[in-house]
Amino acid sequence: MGEWITIALSKGRLLNESIHLLNQIGITHRELLANGRRLIFEIPSEKIRLLLVRAGDVPTYVEYGVADMGISGKNVLLENDPEVFEPLDLKFGFCRIMLAEPAGAEFRSRRNPSKLKIATKYPKITEKYFSRKGIPVEMIKLGGSVELAPMLGLADQIVDLVSTGATLKAHHLKIVDEIAASSARLIVNRASLKLKHHRVFDLIGRIRSVIA
Ligand code: PRP
Repeated sequence: MGEWITIALSKGRLLNESIHLLNQIGITHRELLANGRRLIFEIPSEKIRLLLVRAGDVPTYVEYGVADMGISGKNVLLENDPEVFEPLDLKFGFCRIMLAEPAGAEFRSRRNPSKLKIATKYPKITEKYFSRKGIPVEMIKLGGSVELAPMLGLADQIVDLVSTGATLKAHHLKIVDEIAASSARLIVNRASLKLKHHRVFDLIGRIRSVIA
């Protein structure tokens, strides 16, 4: 069968469907969904090792070759721009990166664009978006719960992930613009692509056949 392959999975919103996808190609571990503290799982019959890491760290594990492959949201890839091969859109974890602001705030934010304060977990995506538009903004980098920022007067607008839209609605925010669409992607380390070519392409093929 060849060498072991390490796959980094994102904890959080992509995890269940990532595990389901691997199940469909015969890669299973009964403790994966046990919600324990374990972060590394080995499946000797498949020579597969699975790592559970923070969603934002998956590209780093794959880029540095600690993991041969990974499942990452496109949102994370757009923000981190890692040097990895991205062979497959896995067709789950659909969401969008949106610019949003408090309902009824249009007049204030558009009258004085040079003063716009933007709260986000995605500073690079945000920076690119506003520089393309030629609008100077003040970036306020947060680690989460970004929707609170306009409510508390910390920012005028936010750039954040929107899936169902329930979080925006609950905080009386409305969409100003769509910045990017996202879904789960399979990513592969560039060296593994060459050095473990047979195993990597076998896995890509098996995954492709179940998402087709
Ligand atoms: C994301 C995002 C929004 C929410 C959107 O947060 O930042 O808060 O999900 O989902 P919805 O449109 O379905 O309501 P996440 O759960 O990743 O956690 P966070 O608070 O760390 O951002």
